[in-house]
Amino acid sequence: MARTALVTGGSRGIGAAISKALRAEGYNVAATYAGNDEAAANFTDETGIATYKWNVADYDESKAGIEKVEAEIGPIDIVVANAGITKDAPFHKMTPEQWHQVIDTNLTGVFNTVHPVWPGMRERKFGRVIVISSINGQKGQFAQVNYAATKAGDLGIVKSLAQEGARAGITANAICPGYIATEMVMAVPEKVRDSIISQIPAGRLGEPEEIARCVAFLASEDSQFINGSTISANGAQFFA
Ligand code: CAA
Repeated sequence: MARTALVTGGSRGIGAAISKALRAEGYNVAATYAGNDEAAANFTDETGIATYKWNVADYDESKAGIEKVEAEIGPIDIVVANAGITKDAPFHKMTPEQWHQVIDTNLTGVFNTVHPVWPGMRERKFGRVIVISSINGQKGQFAQVNYAATKAGDLGIVKSLAQEGARAGITANAICPGYIATEMVMAVPEKVRDSIISQIPAGRLGEPEEIARCVAFLASEDSQFINGSTISANGAQFFA
């Protein structure tokens, strides 16, 4: 029977590419989204991938949503914690609200997504936890104290989960995308974006599919001994 994969933030950007890549590998896929009903409906129409709406920052909503997915599709063996937001501002201008919004969605959201599926993975003696971190969690970034803190936090999460899950057949790994051609990066002012691209030795932004292929490999049986790792996919912009 095909395994079931859950991808948070899975109907847009890197998440959409991940959902499609996992579907192409033969998994049953459930993609979550936070607010954009129209984009999610279009995504389901185009791909046939089921979408579910909940706020990853809310534990009870996440748990209830995951129970619904498991009842409708099947036990979740692969979880991709991808949902994330930015609220960029230089630190002296960053508000407590911008700090908390990003921490709640990007970091607590990982806890809220993985915690409810973890007991089932332990029981079934198989699991794949894949967290989408960022180059900016590795190197820090001007105007991203909040975001960089969450993305660095992701690396601590997977290294700890890897140790807890290893004997139960569960792996936990992070992928650190560099700058990828998505709405999030396109929202950066053009002048700043051009200067970022000039710092990428590959001379271009990455494509969402280039991250999705890393996820597909980590989700597979072949990756069992890769556990607690960080895979950088950034066009040689930064070496951790
Ligand atoms: N390094 C050093 N200085 C920088 C800088 C940088 N990377 N970026 C901006 N500055 C400087 C500016 O030159 C300006 O200096 P002056 O005051 O001397 O002119 C100052 O910092 C910015 O001051 P502003 O008052 O203009 O700042 P602002 O409140 O308008 O904020 C900003 C602007 C939010 C910082 C905007 O420039 C921005 O969005 N920058 C991009 C941040 C970024 O790279 N975010 C990554 C998003 S993509 C992503 O997150 C995905 C992923 O995982 C990779």
